[in-house]
Amino acid sequence: MRIYLDMYHTMDANLAFNFVGEVSTTVWVTAALCITLTILIIPSAYQAIVLQTLNPFVIVKGKNKGQKAPLLGTYKGSFPFGHVKQKVSKPILISNDTVDWCERTGIYSWVEFILLKPALLVASPEACKKVLSASITVKKSTRNIGSMVPAWEMLFGKGLFMLPPKDWKRIHTISMRSFGSAQTKGFYPIINEVVLQYISSLRHVIQGKRVVKHGTMVSQLSDCRYNKQDSNIFTVDSLFRPLSLTAICKVAFGSGDGDGAKIELIQKHFRDIILLQKNAPYAILALIPGYLKYFPFGKPLFMRNTIKSLHKLSLDFVTKYRSKQKDARKNIGEKTITGSEERKTLIKVLCDAHDTEEGILTDTEVVHNIFSFMAAGMSTTADSLAHMILELAQSKQVLQRLQNDIDKIVVAKKSINNVTWEDIDSCNYLTAVIKEALRLYPSIGSKFL
Ligand code: HEM
Repeated sequence: MRIYLDMYHTMDANLAFNFVGEVSTTVWVTAALCITLTILIIPSAYQAIVLQTLNPFVIVKGKNKGQKAPLLGTYKGSFPFGHVKQKVSKPILISNDTVDWCERTGIYSWVEFILLKPALLVASPEACKKVLSASITVKKSTRNIGSMVPAWEMLFGKGLFMLPPKDWKRIHTISMRSFGSAQTKGFYPIINEVVLQYISSLRHVIQGKRVVKHGTMVSQLSDCRYNKQDSNIFTVDSLFRPLSLTAICKVAFGSGDGDGAKIELIQKHFRDIILLQKNAPYAILALIPGYLKYFPFGKPLFMRNTIKSLHKLSLDFVTKYRSKQKDARKNIGEKTITGSEERKTLIKVLCDAHDTEEGILTDTEVVHNIFSFMAAGMSTTADSLAHMILELAQSKQVLQRLQNDIDKIVVAKKSINNVTWEDIDSCNYLTAVIKEALRLYPSIGSKFL
């Protein structure tokens, strides 16, 4: 059994400078040069220094109170650029290798380097419990994902999972005011529509029917195939990625109403950005401060322009909705127009979110959170579906039982189009299958930087 979970807290490298006292500049410059040379020649020396000096885990209870918690190991070959290249180009190999290393050494939390920045990775529920336990505290730790993935910072720096604790609390409090399970249930019809269309298109292509109409599906299927030496490889996750992107994009912006072309453009731009993020040389170069922000041509320029366009397109949705709401309030007092006659979208839900103390989200915060939801939901969903399907294909009995349970629901409802969220929710075997697939293959693994 492989349980795999990564969490990270960037450690504050500035802690190293706590030692700086009243010593002359020349001495410090010489010392810095010597240290730099040493760490470049002997990477393990740098790792050892980090473990000794920057380990931020302090025991706060019991007889070892005040001491550093011995939680960390060092995973091979991480210094100084981490495994960025391998994580982008060979995520599965690096995940397996890391898990093997954990099992062999018995160490489940370790420091990795991301362009000289130390980050802590945790890879077992037990290690997680230790790191997060009430008896251990993390000194000077904060969430700083934007410094590791600059394109995310630019696209959705104010998104929930990017923010340090104080800002996170504010945005979390406001968005949760209008983003409970009732709202997520409300997205089901849009998702159902997208999934049914996708499956029907897939079925038509497999049966060789009406290829012109289903041209997009034909090219998506060919994207899943590639030849490596003598083997034909079919990547199942690539089959589900367009599906989850389309679903999440429609959940975010709606399914048309005259805005279809804009929504398709958003989807295209977003896909381009995600594809570029997978380009290993770009991902490494992007870690150099200023590269993405100022490099005047090539991929950085393309990335900046695409992000600008995404912000503009989505801001249009936000301002249009907010002014519509304002007009409606003028006309019918405090009552807003998001009634049952209108389908909920993520944009509307986040625009409506309001907390009596924290207020509302700004337009930019709404836009950034939409894209952070899209980034958080796209690959996680596609990877989970891919793993679930692969497991089902190898477990005929489970597949048969699941098929029977689903068939019963569809027969009772006369058509798959009439199946509701409640019907799906009541299918306990389906829930068990999804949970088991997530347990076996958590989709946030070490390929996530
Ligand atoms: C199988 C699917 C999914 C898995 C396994 C998954 C897993 C996770 C995990 C482990 C976290 C915590 C990360 C951290 O704190 O550093 C997280 C956070 C988050 N996820 Fe997901 N996720 C999934 C699907 C989705 C979807 C579909 C969406 C959006 C539509 C989404 C939106 C988010 C957001 C916004 C956060 C940040 C929450 C916060 O910081 O308050 N996730 N997810």
